[in-house]
Amino acid sequence: MSLKDAATRVRENAHAPYSGFKVGAALRAASGTVYVGCNVENVAYPEGTCAEAGAIAAMVAAGETELLEAYVIADSPMPVTPCGGCRQKLAEFGAGSVVVTMGTTEGREQVMTLADLLPGAFSADHMAGR
Ligand code: THU
Repeated sequence: MSLKDAATRVRENAHAPYSGFKVGAALRAASGTVYVGCNVENVAYPEGTCAEAGAIAAMVAAGETELLEAYVIADSPMPVTPCGGCRQKLAEFGAGSVVVTMGTTEGREQVMTLADLLPGAFSADHMAGR
C-alpha cells in the first residue's frame, strides 16, 4: 500500500472530538515496512498526541529507528505541515534528506524535506563529547 493510502486510511481512526481535525500519518522505515499513526486527543487538551508522534511510536515499538519517507494528510484548505514538536521528533529518526509529503483530502500536495521543515535542527552533534 502507498504511504498516501496508509495515511488516508488511518486518518479515519483519529480521535479528534475536540478539534474536529483528523490527521493521518504514515512512515516508511528502513526495512520497507510502513507504520501509521493518527492524532489522539484528550479531554485534558495538552495530553493529546499528533498523528506523526503515533506513527513514530509504532515504528520504534516494532524495533525500527530509521525512517526514509513520510506522508501526512488532513482535511484542510492547504497541506498541513507537522507541528514544531513533530518536526523535532521526525528529525530524531530521519535524515535531512527525508521527503515529507503533506496532503489534503481534496488532493493537494506539498513536498518538503526534513531539512526544509527544521532548518538548524538541534541534533546529537550539538552534544558531541557527552
Ligand atoms: N495535528 C496532528 O496530528 N499533526 C499535525 O501535523 C498538525 C496537528 C493534530 C493535533 C490536534 O489533535 C489537531 O491536529 C489540531 O491541532
